[in-house]
Amino acid sequence: MKDPRHILITGASSGIGEALAGEYADAGIRLSLSGRNKDRLQAVAGHCRSRGAVVDEAVVDVCDATAMREWITACWQRQPIDLIVANAGIALATGGAEEMEERTRKIFAVNVDGVLNTIFPALPAMCERQRGQIAIVSSLAGFRGMPSAPAYSASKAAVRALGEGLRGRLAPKGIEVNVVAPGFVKSRITADNSFPMPFLMEAEAAARRIRRGLARNQGRIAFPRRLHAVIWLLSCLPDALAGRLLGGMPKK
Ligand SMILES: NC(=O)c1ccc[n+]([C@@H]2O[C@H](COP(=O)([O-])OP(=O)(O)OC[C@H]3O[C@@H](n4cnc5c(N)ncnc54)[C@H](OP(=O)(O)O)[C@@H]3O)[C@@H](O)[C@H]2O)c1
Repeated sequence: MKDPRHILITGASSGIGEALAGEYADAGIRLSLSGRNKDRLQAVAGHCRSRGAVVDEAVVDVCDATAMREWITACWQRQPIDLIVANAGIALATGGAEEMEERTRKIFAVNVDGVLNTIFPALPAMCERQRGQIAIVSSLAGFRGMPSAPAYSASKAAVRALGEGLRGRLAPKGIEVNVVAPGFVKSRITADNSFPMPFLMEAEAAARRIRRGLARNQGRIAFPRRLHAVIWLLSCLPDALAGRLLGGMPKK
């Protein structure tokens, strides 16, 4: 969509979500922003207001389906939402065998259930209006199961497939659905990675790339291009060979 006027972004208190909020902030734009850290969220909201946007910020956990529905309904009542960016996500280390189940469930709760809690409350109203855009933030790690981060890559694969399917399903209703798949972006998620991160980019550059892709209604907004090509090649390789190559990667 070229000219969204009301944009809702989860995970706007940091990283890519913060940069996206700043990218869209302008006179005539309403931003509905959420996150968990009140101080950081208020700082982002203040910055966006200083650029002329009308901003409503809310501390809401994306895992809380009831709270998310109430928040999104209230946002819609203020002004119909043009663009929803389901961005909030976590990338915990999966740990050893003891912590693996608990951490995998936690990652799925935020990265998968959190996305469902973000996109479904406004969907009936968007369909009725026959206008709206939903951006689901996946990851290049969602194109192949990663031994370095099995739960994270699986959660991102789930929302990628959901977005790809919904795109075809909702297009006749006038709704645009886009899957965003970044490589390595500077944020709190990558700040504690001690391994080399090829083509690491600034969050502001990622936000510009995402905004451009959303304006063009690109189904898959995957970047940077070279890392996307590597991941695509890996996903085409015979499983045993890809497994051997990926098995040597450092663990998250
Ligand atoms: N950075 C990368 O290299 C990279 C690459 C591919 C995809 N991604 C994806 O990009 C998205 C944004 O991540 P980021 O890199 O910008 O990391 P980040 O700086 O850690 O930001 C994550 C955001 O999600 C919010 N969040 C986390 N759990 C939440 C919850 N339960 N309820 C509500 N908000 C929650 C955080 O809020 P609080 O801090 O206030 O808790 C924060 O605003 C994620 O979906 C991530 O998987 C990132």
